[in-house]
Amino acid sequence: MTLQVPDYIRSLVPYVPGKPIEETQREYKIKKVVKLASNENPLGPSPKAVAAIRKYLSQLHRYPDASGFGLKQALSASEGVFSQNLVLGNGSNEIIDLLIRTFCVAGESIVIHRAAFVAYQICAQIHGVSTLVAPIDDGLKCNLDALIHLVKSTESVKLVFLANPNNPTGVYLSRSELDRFFREMMLIRGGSVLVVLDDAYGEYITAPDCPNPKEFLKDYPHLVILRTFSKVYGLAGLRVGYGIASAEIVALLEKVRQPFNLSSLALIGAIAALQDREFVEESLKMNQVGMKLWEAKLLAMGVPFWKSQGNFILIDAQAGFGLSGVDLFQKCLTQGVILRPVANYGLAQALRISIGTPAENQRALKVLEKLLKR
Ligand SMILES: Cc1ncc(COP(=O)(O)O)c(C=O)c1O
Repeated sequence: MTLQVPDYIRSLVPYVPGKPIEETQREYKIKKVVKLASNENPLGPSPKAVAAIRKYLSQLHRYPDASGFGLKQALSASEGVFSQNLVLGNGSNEIIDLLIRTFCVAGESIVIHRAAFVAYQICAQIHGVSTLVAPIDDGLKCNLDALIHLVKSTESVKLVFLANPNNPTGVYLSRSELDRFFREMMLIRGGSVLVVLDDAYGEYITAPDCPNPKEFLKDYPHLVILRTFSKVYGLAGLRVGYGIASAEIVALLEKVRQPFNLSSLALIGAIAALQDREFVEESLKMNQVGMKLWEAKLLAMGVPFWKSQGNFILIDAQAGFGLSGVDLFQKCLTQGVILRPVANYGLAQALRISIGTPAENQRALKVLEKLLKR
């Protein structure tokens, strides 16, 4: 008997994570492997978070606080919003899923742009929700007019997802571009379409005209901001993310959320990480120095790249090395350097490199320079 499963589940292409270090060590028999593939914090986890987690271990027989009271209080103070405006997720990925489950039914749609973070489309498909894709320009930047047109012309659209800066391109939408976008969105079906601004890399932004998404909360009531502890706080393995939105939106998401979606260690670790300003500052500084190094070296090597506001940089492997992103990835892998091909984002020519420690950056650069000379 054939298993009964919806077509949209059968045809699902699952998320492909960065290749693990251990797997690469095993396959290529290389002891020292450098992973610059998942936009993690190369400095490791926040030491304050690690200490707080250690201290809490004897309490693991207790269920976590299902309301996340302590973390919401801490975030309320750091973000300058009320607790009622915060929803916690098992990584911001869970909130993407939660938003689609809460606001869409099968057959409805979300809108993204080409080369957007793949989780949006995957989460939508899991729930039988279709994804409409707006085009991008030569600089890999979203064509906002085309996106607005898609929303306007399709009644079934319930959600728009925009990451700023975007992963994997690192490019961003400016304050004036987003300002105009939200004004246009207000004119579509009374501003009822939810807009999700994914701020996963917000802490790394250095461009003065790249806005803090909170600037738009008062003008667009149906805005949801996503943030994460996976990047600058160094807690990708702990799985903590959160959303900022109106109390009305948060109350709906809270109905759908599993009560214990964050473990007690995740709650405790995130509170401590928020207070670890020293670690955050050090992480940001390391990223800025590393980004400058990559930009300068790539320029010197004649390898084109897209200027990034994140903790990663996307290079044009085809133009720089005469290789597809996957082929260059494979060649680096044999040298013990894991980078991230992005063909699944429709960018077969490109390869994404996370900014590492100075030693990791040097190692990866050495491998790329050697490949260039051949
Ligand atoms: C744009 C974007 N949003 C969300 C996430 C997911 O982050 P989390 O680890 O909080 O689930 C990522 C992770 O790489 C990302 O790049």
